[in-house]
Amino acid sequence: MHTERIPVFPGDPNLKSYEEARATFRWEDVEREFSWHTTGKVNIAYEAIDRNVLEKGLGEKVALYYSDPARQEAVTYRQMMEQSNRFANVLRKHGIGKGERVFIFMPRSPELYWSFLGIIKVGGIAGPLFEAFMEGAVRDRLADAEAVAIVTTPALRKRIPKDLPHLKHIFMVGIPEGGLGEGELDWHAEMAEASPETDIEWGDREDPMLLLYTSGSTGKPKGVLHVHNGMIQHYQTGKWILDLRPDDIYWCTADPGWVTGISYGVWAPYLNGVTSVVRGGRFRPDDWYKTIQDYQVNVWYSAPTAFRMLMGAGDDIVKQFDLSCLRHVLSVGEPLNPEVVRWGLKVFDRRIHDNWWMTETGGQIISNYPCMEIKPGSMGKPFPGIHAAIIDDKGNELPPLQMGNLAVKAPWPSMMRRIWKNPAKYNEYFKIEGWYLSGDSAYMDEEGYFWFQGRIDDVINTSGERVGPFEVESKLVEHPAVAEAGVIGKPDPLRGEIIKAFIALREGYLWTEDLKTEIIDFVKKGLAAHAAPREIEVRDKLPKTRSGKIMRRVLKAWELGLPTGDLSTMED
Ligand code: WTA
Repeated sequence: MHTERIPVFPGDPNLKSYEEARATFRWEDVEREFSWHTTGKVNIAYEAIDRNVLEKGLGEKVALYYSDPARQEAVTYRQMMEQSNRFANVLRKHGIGKGERVFIFMPRSPELYWSFLGIIKVGGIAGPLFEAFMEGAVRDRLADAEAVAIVTTPALRKRIPKDLPHLKHIFMVGIPEGGLGEGELDWHAEMAEASPETDIEWGDREDPMLLLYTSGSTGKPKGVLHVHNGMIQHYQTGKWILDLRPDDIYWCTADPGWVTGISYGVWAPYLNGVTSVVRGGRFRPDDWYKTIQDYQVNVWYSAPTAFRMLMGAGDDIVKQFDLSCLRHVLSVGEPLNPEVVRWGLKVFDRRIHDNWWMTETGGQIISNYPCMEIKPGSMGKPFPGIHAAIIDDKGNELPPLQMGNLAVKAPWPSMMRRIWKNPAKYNEYFKIEGWYLSGDSAYMDEEGYFWFQGRIDDVINTSGERVGPFEVESKLVEHPAVAEAGVIGKPDPLRGEIIKAFIALREGYLWTEDLKTEIIDFVKKGLAAHAAPREIEVRDKLPKTRSGKIMRRVLKAWELGLPTGDLSTMED
């Protein structure tokens, strides 16, 4: 079984021996590398940005290369520090401070990162939102978090609800046509008036700093809360998994609206003092390769769907670029096909290092390391200092090759600390004493490599984005033509899964192509483009339990042509 291996590449990685690290590693030793070890007070934004300027002499080093088709900019660590100080002062001027939730809803830009860091400098809790969210999705999140302010752009303004009682300030990056409305503030004017120096709000390691909404299989998206202490893990995984070295140019392709774009798009690179590349605009294979070539990217962190799209664009296009600068390539978010790993080896002459983690884990948990052989298709081994295992439903660790729950011994430094206003949901993850239950199933082989098998619940992973079927179903039944809806993930060679909806129509509606388009658009406009079904199938009736719950497992069996299993709970 799994005889294919890709040997270690020549080079001198930060982590020399996985086994030795597992035997000797202690998080306490990592803590000593932070200045707060002496003061007892902490702010992750200081450690990531200001400390590089004030204590390490990196003020003139480029922290951020920003690039989109209309704008290219190099921002030094000193500028990152001063701009985020300014935004911290702007927030304070409006009475926004410790513990308050400030959201960010805008396309990637330097302003986004300055605002984000400014929120954290005043001790606030930042809530980054993916720019594709539509009004319904934005409303749910802002309302649940009782956000007091949001940073946005004129183009996205109409998706921000005006009737939320807690939302007092809308910082507009750019002036809308017709001028600013009520509660709207000119981000640029405010920044220009603000001082580039600020008093950072020092706090405790366990103070919250980040709220990220993510989907489960039931209910609305839940707010996963992270604290400053996560930095220990962001820093150390940045060193050993991203293999960051002082002169590296690093590119994480994830949007800061998702956890990867924060933990590994902001914290890991800046805590390690490297230069980070952020690319705005749409995905295009030639632009991506050009970005690597132009910025001489050494370390590149992306996702399986992106790699599959690049693979689909063909090998010839790769040859038009000089990508010899690439030293280390990584992937996260969904299963990485062995075929893609082989392709990466062929066209980049590099190994693609898969790793596994989740919004809730805050940082990488299982990974392939440069010092370790890769078995294509495996996610690798647990990070030294973290115990991940395959357990049964009682919490017993299973022997190799047995499939079970992928679980992590709690706690670890970057673990979520709460589900916002929902302790019951939080406790569900920890219902087996001592363990965090990921909801994924996997097995471990005899050599300790972990192999992903699937989700245990109905959560859909489309192009690496988690979509809760319940949210999509709820939106579908808001459409006047839809009586019932059940949503599943359908296997797809490019996107991993696509969203497929089964619906029953209301009396008097006729199924047409136009109606289908209308319903898909309805979900796109109400939730987000990535949450809209790509396929809809109409049935007279959907399979339901006697208590009225749609049986998604039956829908899935229909789709895959598999036996439907036990139907004893199904209504007549
Ligand atoms: C899936 C993204 C297979 C998994 C950082 C997990 C993966 C969910 C992998 C978390 C991988 C993540 N192989 N599946 N290497 N990495 N997943 O919260 O189902 O957006 O539970 O975090 O993505 O998605 P999330």
